[in-house]
Amino acid sequence: MDTNQGRYTEEKKKAWKIFDRIYKKYDLLNHLLSLGFDFHWRKKLSSLTGGKKDRSLLDLATGTGDVLFSLIKHSGRFDKAVGVDMSFNMLSHAARKSIKKGKSDEVDFILGDANSIPVKTGSFDIATMAFGIRNISEPVIALRDIYRTLANGGRVLILEFSLPGNKFLKWVHLVYLRYFLPVIGRLISGDIEAYRYLNKTIEVFPYGDKFIRLMEDAGFAECEKFPLTMGIVTIYRGVRPNG
Ligand SMILES: C[S@@+](CC[C@H](N)C(=O)[O-])C[C@H]1O[C@@H](n2cnc3c(N)ncnc32)[C@H](O)[C@@H]1O
Repeated sequence: MDTNQGRYTEEKKKAWKIFDRIYKKYDLLNHLLSLGFDFHWRKKLSSLTGGKKDRSLLDLATGTGDVLFSLIKHSGRFDKAVGVDMSFNMLSHAARKSIKKGKSDEVDFILGDANSIPVKTGSFDIATMAFGIRNISEPVIALRDIYRTLANGGRVLILEFSLPGNKFLKWVHLVYLRYFLPVIGRLISGDIEAYRYLNKTIEVFPYGDKFIRLMEDAGFAECEKFPLTMGIVTIYRGVRPNG
């Protein structure tokens, strides 16, 4: 495992508390700081789920629920769609959004930890996690528990920040992450810590093939990566093998 993984372990254990504070401004900042690309990333995530035979969906670190709402919009209604998060305020906000969108009978939200997911073994066809695994101190533990929640043949889709492969683009992106993003984040959310924490965790996250190896360590097969928007985010997909 990457030695940088442990550097922010203690901060990561408390990461949900940051979101508990900034929940009101979270969606706005998400759209603003990604220049609206977050809509495209979630749509792409939906296209990689594999289609309509996946009838039960578990979204981890669901936050304000945008992955669930996007998947329902692009893939159709699920028999069961559950969002799990450690932050009560983010989940309450997600529940309010589900009422506004007329989707409250289609989604359930559970307060819980992605390291020890409070759902039955083998009970979901698809598990998603967007911008959550980077906040987990031991990603492989969460990946193993995600594996446990999936039925045989079930798929996991993880959307997470990464860094561009091109050296110049990487430099430009790091300047954005280190100097612009914390300032804009602080101005809008009013929280000094939140968006400084964001750039630190992006820079040390084991993205690309390193993350694929973590997925394989957790037991997933057919692991693939799909870098998007010049590599500033990547979607990872893996399958829980049959049998
Ligand atoms: C950056 S937000 C992502 C929210 C949403 N998935 C999205 O794409 O907008 C990260 C979320 O992870 C949650 N979180 C952090 N640690 C967690 C943990 N151990 N288990 C479950 N959720 C966690 C936070 O509360 C926060 O809502």
